[in-house]
Amino acid sequence: MIPQRLEHQVTDKGFVPIYATGVVEQPWGDYGTTDHAVWSRLYARQREVLRGRACDQFLAAMAALRMDEARIPRFSDLNLHLERATGWRLVAVEGLLPEVDFFGHLAAREFPVTWWIRTPEQMDYLTEPDLFHDLFGHVPLLMDPVFADYMCAYGRGGLKAMGLGEDALAQLARLYWYTVEFGLIRGSEGLRIYGSGILSSAGESRYAVESDAPNRIGFDRDRIMRTRYRIDSYQRGYFVIDSFEQLFEATRPDFTPIYARLADLPPWAAGEIAPGDDVITRGTGEGWSDTPDA
Ligand code: PHE
Ligand code: FE
Repeated sequence: MIPQRLEHQVTDKGFVPIYATGVVEQPWGDYGTTDHAVWSRLYARQREVLRGRACDQFLAAMAALRMDEARIPRFSDLNLHLERATGWRLVAVEGLLPEVDFFGHLAAREFPVTWWIRTPEQMDYLTEPDLFHDLFGHVPLLMDPVFADYMCAYGRGGLKAMGLGEDALAQLARLYWYTVEFGLIRGSEGLRIYGSGILSSAGESRYAVESDAPNRIGFDRDRIMRTRYRIDSYQRGYFVIDSFEQLFEATRPDFTPIYARLADLPPWAAGEIAPGDDVITRGTGEGWSDTPDA
């Protein structure tokens, strides 16, 4: 076990401790042949699917990180590249962390990665994040300086939102969902993926970029913070940024008054088009299940 870290953050309330706990050592020697084979198959499949679909920053970072296709990477190897590029490092965790720990790690530029990988029966879907989602989906973009700063700012924002109540946390979670997990970016060659939930899914990688079913709407911070999302199906709507700088700048202001203002407004359903939306593609809604939004 790595000893628990205790850091401090300066806020308007003074020095506030960041408890970034839940860390284990990656039990690399315990991965079996099946674990490495699952990694290898998922990696090879996404390498093909993401050509021409993932954003340039992701593809460039994949090349720079030189993740091993044949075997599950050691986090300590990846950390050499990450720390040099943006000061981030990976920490191994058992699974989803309590909010305070998750935000605390991000604020300390530590990305928690689930150490275990799915079974061969779960190649296409599992309900909780595993190593493939966390590592393949989230880690490459931490090599990008602007995105890396966005993730750290998000962690600090999360710690602050914890003192502001459930409404603030729900709004912040929607922002994470529609950017970090399911974001699209508009490049010179069209729509590309940067959200990790898409990048780690072969089916949603194709769907998010090519399907006629979902809405695709220009990024709008306040609109996103009012928008419900889907947890048991592909998204009904995606929000499209022009650059990571746009994302970083739009989320730089103090959210405290924004949370308060938005809390009084009703939320938008996941598949809804709102007045004032910059509609890039209006979805057909084909195949949408009748389960409720989250
Ligand atoms: N600027 C936000 C705040 O003051 C924090 C934040 C940064 C939230 C980046 C999301 C992303 O709360
Ligand atoms: Fe994720």
